[in-house]
Amino acid sequence: MKYFLDSGKIDEIKYAYEMFGIDGVTTNPNHIKNSGKPFMTVVQEVADFIKEAGLEGIDKFPVSFEINPHLLTWQEMVEAAKKVSSYSPNYVIKIPCCEQGLIAAKKLEEVGIPTNVTLVFSPSQAIQAARLGAKFVSPFIGWKENSGDDGQTYVKDIADIYAIYGYETEIIAAACRNGRQISEMATAGVDVVTAGLQVYRDSFYHPFTDYGLKKFQNAWDETLGN
Ligand code: E4P
Repeated sequence: MKYFLDSGKIDEIKYAYEMFGIDGVTTNPNHIKNSGKPFMTVVQEVADFIKEAGLEGIDKFPVSFEINPHLLTWQEMVEAAKKVSSYSPNYVIKIPCCEQGLIAAKKLEEVGIPTNVTLVFSPSQAIQAARLGAKFVSPFIGWKENSGDDGQTYVKDIADIYAIYGYETEIIAAACRNGRQISEMATAGVDVVTAGLQVYRDSFYHPFTDYGLKKFQNAWDETLGN
């Protein structure tokens, strides 16, 4: 299972790539806002990093950018997507899973611009994204669970449906908030999870690991001859 970083901060992206071996990046307007930089500055910065790191190629290190969410017709979405996509061959365009968005995704995939159909909250939305050939689909596990819904079942349903029909769209379990959700998404059979840097850090941690380390340090120190 691949790990993507959910962030618009270039320092975090570089760190997570070099230290955690992340496989790609997802962003949304919130992450760009939190970077404190204009959208197109982040688009340029990440494109420069991809080039410098020798990561060019959509399957080496895909990076999803969401176009202006105020654009409500497929024609406007396609135009904005083409502009962002021209900055790097690794760029994937996030398109909202509404009727106009799905049309835009179809048109973009037809001209070779990969899409990530986002804001997906039901298997029926995910089916249409896959039918029209989106490269990625992003069900938001974290948001579902925040509102009290069962996140694991709907993502597992999507994975099962994709397996039955042989859909090639990759499933990104988005907005993962903790290690439990990451492991549940792995058992649900998704291709990718995406989460923030601190979520990954926390998921690598267990207090018993610290406890065991201390215990073994003590044993080492008390061993004859050490
Ligand atoms: C990723 O593609 C999504 O934009 C993301 O996981 C949503 O996460 P957020 O709730 O951290 O913004």
